[in-house]
Amino acid sequence: MRTLLLAALLFLAPNCSRRSGAQEIPSQASPPPSAHAPVASVAGVTKAASETDGAKLHERYCALCHGKEAKGYAADNAPSLVSQRFLESATDAFIATAIRNGRPNTAMAAYGSSRGGPLDERQITALVRFYRSKGPAPLALPAPGPGDAAKGGKLYTQYCITCHAPPGQRGTAPQLHNPEFLASATPAFIRHAIVHGRPPTPMPPFGERLKAEEIDSIVAYVRALATLPGAAPADAKVPDNLALVINPKGGKPSFKLRDERYVSAEQVKKALDAKQRMVIVDARSPADWLLFHIPGSVPIPYYDTEKLEKLPNDGTWVVAYCACPHHASGEVVDALRKRNYRHTAVLDEGILFWKDKGYPLAGSAATPAPSAAPAPSVKHP
Ligand code: HEC
Ligand code: HEC
Repeated sequence: MRTLLLAALLFLAPNCSRRSGAQEIPSQASPPPSAHAPVASVAGVTKAASETDGAKLHERYCALCHGKEAKGYAADNAPSLVSQRFLESATDAFIATAIRNGRPNTAMAAYGSSRGGPLDERQITALVRFYRSKGPAPLALPAPGPGDAAKGGKLYTQYCITCHAPPGQRGTAPQLHNPEFLASATPAFIRHAIVHGRPPTPMPPFGERLKAEEIDSIVAYVRALATLPGAAPADAKVPDNLALVINPKGGKPSFKLRDERYVSAEQVKKALDAKQRMVIVDARSPADWLLFHIPGSVPIPYYDTEKLEKLPNDGTWVVAYCACPHHASGEVVDALRKRNYRHTAVLDEGILFWKDKGYPLAGSAATPAPSAAPAPSVKHP
């Protein structure tokens, strides 16, 4: 009874899809349905069967960046979710919060349905169980001493900045100034990572290199970092009547692609300014679209590519972007090309570059709060 009810609910949900796993290749034989065909159909039923299977959920939504085995670094320097040092310091609540709320302004989107993402709480719990099954339970961690944040700042510049970047900027390692990170990472969690590192990842242990007071000071500094604009308001939803085509009456852009695949942000910005006709697909979790997106873009995430069949296949340019900057958008472009869309491209530098350039954005966090740190100058690899 409960399963049936759930299946019915999923059937109605806007993010519902016909795919039950990432490994399924969408059928190419059938002609694309008409522009406004419902995308739900029998979907809910297949999804209900696998919805609490953490391994399947991981494969569909997370493997793209965190890797098939969840060891990280498949794309975007996504961290390992299964290293011993991570699992012994991260509580289930910490992991669940990261999945639900994401890390705004990074490639890690919010996936919780409370933030407009695809996953309900049962699915988030299933994912947490899946990662937990690959390593130890959380330990009771010793809390650091008070420390001196000013001293910690100097040590941070000396030892950490090469990977974690200055506050407000993006480096190759997770953002320690991220508001969602700071909202859930305790001083003890931060200290544990610094003392022991995260072997076998690039995060080195500092327990032998730095004195205990120095580490306490760095923790005090990290905890005190000013925060950037936060998340989309809870329960925000993508409107269901979004127009698919931008400037339907406009002329055709003449994009020049790099490697027959990538279009520069500058060309897309120019085409928008010139009111030219195109479709822009946001390939991230819809929760991140709610936060900020290119005006006129439609959210069709990398894990829901069947929804691309709604797009006109009449030669209109379709540009896909993500934060990565190429992975999620690349999946969308591959799926379009499989369906014989002729003019498709990946936005080369991605949305974070677009944002850093000050190009137009829409969404709840489109305009940075006055307290925001200066615009990043480090380019994402
Ligand atoms: C050589 C690059 C490098 C240096 C130097 C480095 N880190 Fe890291 N750090 C990383 C990476 C990569 C991760 C993510 C590891 C993983 O996959 O779990 C990380 C993770 C962390 C985490 C955990 C963050 C999270 O979201 O779980 C903390 C805290 C941290 N580092 C603090 C520091 C501090 C403080 C310093 C300086 C004393 C430092 N790191 C120096 C690369 C580095
Ligand atoms: C587009 C790439 C991408 C996808 C897809 C993605 N992540 Fe992440 N994830 C990241 C990055 C990058 C970070 C580090 C963010 C930062 O800089 O702070 C991260 C961080 C995390 C963290 C925090 C780890 C820590 O040490 O603090 C968790 C937990 C996590 N992701 C789980 C997931 C789960 C579960 C999914 C699937 C539902 C997922 N991610 C999908 C890129 C991704």
